[in-house]
Amino acid sequence: MLSENPRDDMKEILFEEEQIQARVAELGAQLGADYKDKTPLMICVLRGAAFFFTDLCRRMDCKMDMDFIAVSSYGHGQASTGAVRLVKDVSIDMTGRHVIIVEDIIDTGLTLRYLTKLFKARNAASVATVAFLDKKERREVDMNVDYSGFVIPNEFVVGYGLDFEDYLRNLPYIGVLKEECYS
Ligand code: PRP
Repeated sequence: MLSENPRDDMKEILFEEEQIQARVAELGAQLGADYKDKTPLMICVLRGAAFFFTDLCRRMDCKMDMDFIAVSSYGHGQASTGAVRLVKDVSIDMTGRHVIIVEDIIDTGLTLRYLTKLFKARNAASVATVAFLDKKERREVDMNVDYSGFVIPNEFVVGYGLDFEDYLRNLPYIGVLKEECYS
């Protein structure tokens, strides 16, 4: 059960809005420089990455276009089966394109592994991965992210796109949810 004031449901704040935006600006500057003259195709993995994606793209000083994809993992958060299902596909042809997959978080690594394989099979010229948060200790497959904002511990994090039962995505900060909210 959530409170009316989301701050009351936080055990701790991991990153305040200013810290998030400062890190996004750094990542955007780095990506903008790395992809200068490559016209990257930016792919937002719905829904969690929506806020990070729009902030990041606006911090990249290069020509780009963008598309959106949605996937779902069976048994995510519980005993994962490792299966990822495509819910909504992109519409832009990525043949010969430099693709950048943008995620809010990498956890087991299954989603990014699935998408990377899929886009390589579609003959992208290159496929890079960006995740704002990296729960390294939860990794189940050998998948490294090329650009990451912060490595975080294995805690129930919400905000800046990350949800609890679809709520709290809109928080401008990232916090750890109190256990009493979900137990
Ligand atoms: C989250 C996140 C990634 C995925 C990462 O999505 O946005 O897509 O999980 O987990 P993995 O590394 O274990 O595959 P979620 O399925 O919660 O959907 P959402 O983005 O719509 O919240």
